[in-house]
Formats: sequence, structure tokens, C-alpha cells
Amino acid sequence: MTKPFLTAGLGRLMTKEELARAIRQDIIAENDAIALYEAHIQATDDKAAQAVLQHIVDEEKMHVMELQVLIEHLDTDQKMINVKGKTHAETLIAGGEVEED
Ligand SMILES: [Fe+2]
Repeated sequence: MTKPFLTAGLGRLMTKEELARAIRQDIIAENDAIALYEAHIQATDDKAAQAVLQHIVDEEKMHVMELQVLIEHLDTDQKMINVKGKTHAETLIAGGEVEED
């Protein structure tokens, strides 16, 4: 079970680096929730339940992106890495090749 006051023991505010690390864990939780809700959608033929769960899935997916943008705010190296990773992926998807670093 999640410990919502896990950081209270620090006795201080988290650094940006520590908060970015915590937010990365939050993204894991969001993705885990998405997988769980999608499994529940597939496990029922109740259209109302499927609609509500799909709405929640869509919101969780947005939370993943919002948290990713927050990490980019907290960790500027991550922001540059994300730009490079996005370019690599788009190049590979288009059938191109990328150079190894
Ligand atoms: Fe969420």
C-alpha cells in the first residue's frame, strides 16, 4: 500500500532531484493503474462499467504526460534526453537509422 507521508521523515523539503525521483515512481503507479483498468474493461461486458473505466484510463494517460512534463521542469537533463529520444524513436518508426551514442 502506498505510504502518502513517506517523505515526512526527511525533516525538510525534498530537493528537485528527490522530487523528480518520486515523480518517476508516480508515473509507474499511473501506468500500473492504466493496465489494471484496461484489464477490468476486458473482463466485463457491462457497457457502463467499460465507459467509466475507459474514461479513467484516458485521464490516467494524461496524468502520465503531465508528470513527465513536471519531471522535465525538475530535471533539465531529462528534458534534453527526452527530445533526443523522441527524435530517435520517430526516425526508427519512419524506417530510418540512428547513431549509437
Ligand atoms: Fe492518475
